[in-house]
Amino acid sequence: MPNTSNTVDNPFFARVWTVMSGHEPETVRRLRRENLAGLSGRVLEVGAGTGTNFAFYPTTLQQVIAVEPERRLAVLAQRAAEDAPVPVSISTDTVEQFTADEPFDAIVCSLVLCSVDEPGSVLRQLFSLLRPGGELRYLEHIAGTGARARLQKIADATVWPRLLGNCHTHRHTEATIVDAGFEVQGARREWAMPAWVPLPVAEFAIGRAVRPAG
Ligand SMILES: C[S@@+](CC[C@H](N)C(=O)[O-])C[C@H]1O[C@@H](n2cnc3c(N)ncnc32)[C@H](O)[C@@H]1O
Repeated sequence: MPNTSNTVDNPFFARVWTVMSGHEPETVRRLRRENLAGLSGRVLEVGAGTGTNFAFYPTTLQQVIAVEPERRLAVLAQRAAEDAPVPVSISTDTVEQFTADEPFDAIVCSLVLCSVDEPGSVLRQLFSLLRPGGELRYLEHIAGTGARARLQKIADATVWPRLLGNCHTHRHTEATIVDAGFEVQGARREWAMPAWVPLPVAEFAIGRAVRPAG
C-alpha cells in the first residue's frame, strides 16, 4: 500500500537516525559529495532526514526543496538548512503527497528508496516531477546475492524495518529506477564497509539517471 498519510511519525527511528547521521564513516560522506557534484538549477531532495546532504550541495545550485515528513527530523533539517551553502526550504509533506508548480532540474534520493512503501510508484512520481532531460541522483544501499541476500530477506521480514524507519535491505532499486522510465547514464556500486562485514546494508549503488528529453 502506498503511504497515504501525510506524515511519518517514528520517534524511535528519529532518535537513532539523529545519532547515526552524525557519525557517518568518511566513505559515506565522500559518496554523498560525489552524488551531488555538478548539480545546478532547482533541486528536490526526498526524505532529507537531519539534512546531512545540505553541506555538500554545490554553490552552483539555485534552490533545494527538501521533503522530510518526520517532524523531529524536519526540525533538525531546518537547522542544517540555515547553515547550508545554498538556499534550502523544508517541506513536511511525504513524497507521495508532495506536488510542485514547476518541474525540477534534478531530484536527489539518498538512503530513502529503501524506506518508502512503494518505491516503484514513488519513482514514477519523481519522473513526472522532473523536466525532460532532468536527472535523478541516487545513493542507495541495494540487494545483495548469496548469503547476504538471505540475511537481507530475514532482516526485512523481522525487526529491521520496524527498528529503522521502514528501511528494507533487499530492494532491487537500480532495476526499479529503470522500470520507472529513467535512462541510467552513469552508475557504479561501492562497498561502504568491507564486504566481509555481515551487515545487510554494506553495498551502495550511486548513479545518475535521466528523464529522457524526447
Ligand atoms: C535513512 S533516512 C535517510 C535520510 C537522508 N536521505 C540521508 O541521506 O541522510 C530515510 C528518510 O526518509 C524519510 N522518509 C520515509 N518515508 C518517507 C516518505 N514517504 N516521504 C518522504 N520521506 C520519507 C524518513 O523520515 C527519513 O528521514
